[in-house]
Amino acid sequence: LQPKLLLGRMVLITAGPTFERIDAVRGITNTSSGKMGYAIARAAYEAGAEVILVSGETALPTPVGSRRINVQSAQQMLNAVDNEIATADIFIGVAAVSDYYVLNPSEQKIKKDAHILTLELGPNPDILANITAKPNPPFCVGFAAESENLLEYAEAKRKRKKLPLLAANLVQQAMGREDNELILLDDSGETRLTRAPKLDIARKLIAHIARLYDAEQTA
Ligand code: C5P
Repeated sequence: LQPKLLLGRMVLITAGPTFERIDAVRGITNTSSGKMGYAIARAAYEAGAEVILVSGETALPTPVGSRRINVQSAQQMLNAVDNEIATADIFIGVAAVSDYYVLNPSEQKIKKDAHILTLELGPNPDILANITAKPNPPFCVGFAAESENLLEYAEAKRKRKKLPLLAANLVQQAMGREDNELILLDDSGETRLTRAPKLDIARKLIAHIARLYDAEQTA
């Protein structure tokens, strides 16, 4: 049994990929199985938290104890998060949010021909940055998936997004797999979670978050 480190807390989590519609059958998405975010949702519930999981499309069953809100696009994910954020004590952004959306998606399937097809893309809102910019934000945790220069890029991202905690992983070692390894970056430095099944990693991450969160509450 896991210690109830987050008893009475509400944890809001985004997970999975977003999908930005091009036409009736096509879209732009990111590679994300949702496994890490879903494991974190389960670990947060085990730690006694109330859990809301805002999820892009995945093939995974809802983790035990989570209230799951299904979304497709980044804008829908932002709206769902905005609706729930007021009561959240902790926000964990694990979703692989598409950086761009299609400006003029077609209602009908675009017919193919020999011409070059140009898509116009507009930038999506940054959900995490939206939350940290609010007055009295919840304790915010970000994820960084990088394919190189992991520590350097991740620490820059932590500073830029003004996050007390950022979990960094290498794309090649994390994506779609059943196990993962993470480097946790916070104000006191880095903590390495060595390779283990995603649920084990998630439990350690939740324990780390609970420690930082409690320290912030008593500060
Ligand atoms: O995509 P990026 O590397 O900037 O993601 C870092 C963190 O920011 C992740 O936690 C991700 O879920 C979050 N994010 C977000 N909204 C975006 C892009 C990223 O919440 N539009």
